Amino acid sequence: KEGKLWGGRFEESVTDAVERFTESISFDKELYKQDIMGSRAHAIMLAEQGLISGSDKNNILQGLEEIERCIENGDFIWRTDREDVHMNIEAALTDMIGEPAKKLHTARSRNDQVLTDFRLWCRDAIDRIIKHIKHLQVSLVTLALKNEGLIVPGYTHLQRAQPVLLQHHLLAYVEQLERDAGRLVDCRARLNFCPLGACALAGTGLPIDRFMTSNALGFTAPLRNSIDAVSDRDFVLEFLSANSIIAIHLSRLGEEWVLWASEEFGFITPSDSVSTGSSIMPQKKNPDPMELVRGKSARVIGDLVTLLTLCKGLPHAYNRDLQEDKEPVFDSVKTISGMLEVSAEFALNITLNRRRIEKALPAGHLDATTLADYLVKKGIPFRTSHDIVGRSVALCVSKNCQLQDLNLDELSSIATVFDEDVYEFLGAENAVNKFCSYGSTGSACVANQLNYWVSKLEIN
Ligand code: ARG
Repeated sequence: KEGKLWGGRFEESVTDAVERFTESISFDKELYKQDIMGSRAHAIMLAEQGLISGSDKNNILQGLEEIERCIENGDFIWRTDREDVHMNIEAALTDMIGEPAKKLHTARSRNDQVLTDFRLWCRDAIDRIIKHIKHLQVSLVTLALKNEGLIVPGYTHLQRAQPVLLQHHLLAYVEQLERDAGRLVDCRARLNFCPLGACALAGTGLPIDRFMTSNALGFTAPLRNSIDAVSDRDFVLEFLSANSIIAIHLSRLGEEWVLWASEEFGFITPSDSVSTGSSIMPQKKNPDPMELVRGKSARVIGDLVTLLTLCKGLPHAYNRDLQEDKEPVFDSVKTISGMLEVSAEFALNITLNRRRIEKALPAGHLDATTLADYLVKKGIPFRTSHDIVGRSVALCVSKNCQLQDLNLDELSSIATVFDEDVYEFLGAENAVNKFCSYGSTGSACVANQLNYWVSKLEIN
């Protein structure tokens, strides 16, 4: 009971175990800045509305400023018996300035307070993540610019399919990241509404101005429905869903780079600065950062699943369960930020092994589909072309050679339509040069894509 802001109706204090179990200060102190920001806006509004005096307001604002300084200097003592960040700050303010502090919680509940803090925090976090995304996009485009003209095998089913420009391959990730950023922008716009003034759940009979606080805090408008305001967590579900999709994209990138760094592929060599060794095998140089990018995607997905599960059975309005919403969000933001940062670092520290890739390129008949297009241009129906090229590939397999190694007699024995000009379509390089559809891997199309990103991302 001693020192509790809600102690009035209680005769006994909570047990130590309950106190330890129910506290959130150990993690929600992360919200201190937003909490002070919200209290400032609330105090100013209370004074404007004549609910507190101008001098009380000034005392509150000065006290809050002092508390913020104290926290930032590391001098603030966070007390578990004061439960959470809201009551720690309010009680410290009371210790510091006395009576006026007791008016700050007028027409406010921790239920609307915590959501105001949390929405403000998520808004900032989204802005930070979007910056990380942009940086990774720039790093991928930079890697693409360093490797002009490099052709790599394109895969489907992880089997060799068609030749593509490395730039094209990398820009596919840049596109995905752009949509990832777009999802966060959408989420930010949807979450940027103000719960403050919803109070416990029903609003208040006191003459507050919710539009004033909403404005002061940079929200679009106050939330329309006070019950919704304190019950809703779909803004965090949406945020963590967006993070999970980013995590999946990065995990795929990680998997690919881990494969490409293997002896079997040998497409890339990560620099020592992004590799780690083995405690037993002296020769090892491992692409651990990207393995962990792949691995940590599990945490980000887990955080989302935790929140979905947390919310699924809750009646309106606030329930204490909802205190569990914070750690998964903090973890998701920290994890996804690290994943983005390390992926960018990796992109800037890998070398594409041009010679190795070029040497490996003739295998796998990457030009077979281009050869079928050649026959279509000669007037052969595609299905027939497919069959002719299939039989040509079978001949290659039996002779252990590539399509371009077949002479015109051999090709003509399969179909008379083959002519000398067929060799302009064969080989990975010729094949790549034949692509011309919008968005394809043809060099002109890829150059257009690259120009688009260089200017959009403002890469000098
Ligand atoms: N620490 C709480 C949370 O994070 C704040 C709201 C508590 N409200 C209450 N009535 N117990 O959800």
